Amino acid sequence: MDNTIVNPSKANHPFWRGKILPRLVLMAAPLPKNTFCSIDVTTKCNLRCGHCYFFSYDQEGKKELGDEEWLKKIEAMQKGKKPFYSCTWVGGEPLLRRELIEKGRRFFRANRVVTNGTLPLPFWPDVEFHVSVDGTEEYHDSIRGKGTYAKIKKNVSSIKGLNVAIACCLNRANVDCIDALLDEWSRIPNIRHVLFDFFTPIIGDDPPVKKGTVPSVGLWLTFEERDRILEKLSDLKRGRYREFIGAPPMTFNLMRSGERHKSIGKNCVFVKHGTAFDAEGNVKKPCVIGPKADCDRCGCIVPFSVRAWKHPSNLLREILQEFKK
Ligand SMILES: C[S@@+](CC[C@H](N)C(=O)[O-])C[C@H]1O[C@@H](n2cnc3c(N)ncnc32)[C@H](O)[C@@H]1O
Ligand code: SF4
Ligand code: SF4
Repeated sequence: MDNTIVNPSKANHPFWRGKILPRLVLMAAPLPKNTFCSIDVTTKCNLRCGHCYFFSYDQEGKKELGDEEWLKKIEAMQKGKKPFYSCTWVGGEPLLRRELIEKGRRFFRANRVVTNGTLPLPFWPDVEFHVSVDGTEEYHDSIRGKGTYAKIKKNVSSIKGLNVAIACCLNRANVDCIDALLDEWSRIPNIRHVLFDFFTPIIGDDPPVKKGTVPSVGLWLTFEERDRILEKLSDLKRGRYREFIGAPPMTFNLMRSGERHKSIGKNCVFVKHGTAFDAEGNVKKPCVIGPKADCDRCGCIVPFSVRAWKHPSNLLREILQEFKK
């Protein structure tokens, strides 16, 4: 007979459910070294988007670890002294190898799949899906290929019970459609929020843009342009899209040209707390973008949103929200 005494009120209290205590600890302590990892599930993709860093590297003939090889590797990592808390499954198009994610995600406490959304989403309610939508239909299709927007709309409109966010990479080709994108996608049920990144240039690749269907112009937005867009995103987040624009409010301030140096380079969370693996299982540095990442002009939201999230004022705000719940 199981004699364990369970105190239901204690077990259900948010403090014990891990919503409050970890936040209190994080106010003082740094994130553990192995907080995140990312895995390039495959070198293959059914699209060739104009802005894609992945195909700025020659992927032709590159090897991929088989499912069993990956599972053995992941199991060994996760049973070691410093297991990763979360894994981001990326690529290439990760849903081309969904069996690997199906099995591999069980080794992590949190999982995120970043997908182009053109293939049906598997029913994985424990996973956070980031579906890449680079603007409203005309803008998105000009970057990602004709008909891709309609496919995504069909795939995500039919889902229920999944945790889906939209990931939009802002660049010169789509920057004019922020309002229309928010308006359209905020009406679609089941979409949690939109996360905006900026295009990160690849050293030696910009301009011109060689891939995909976008016009052959640089996609890079200057820091002055970015600052204006960040101002706009902050305003929208304070107003109509408080919840629908993802990331803590402070993120957009940290991304501004005068502040950004605090979150990138050697301070970047990926450099300090993450490890990126390529499809063959080798470590990629400095992050998932690989060695040609132009860190000085990085547009990835994560280094900034993690810093904003970890700020004591934000953790306190979240703790208060938990108590209110
Ligand atoms: C390389 S893709 C792989 C996953 C999947 N195929 C997809 O498109 O979502 C991962 C994410 O990186 C973004 N991305 C690609 N190239 C980028 C760049 N140069 N700067 C910023 N984001 C980029 C994509 O828009 C996508 O959201
Ligand atoms: S951004 Fe994603 S979908 Fe587009 S080419 Fe790159 S890997 Fe493929
Ligand atoms: S490109 Fe951006 S996310 Fe990657 S290591 Fe550099 S600063 Fe960090």
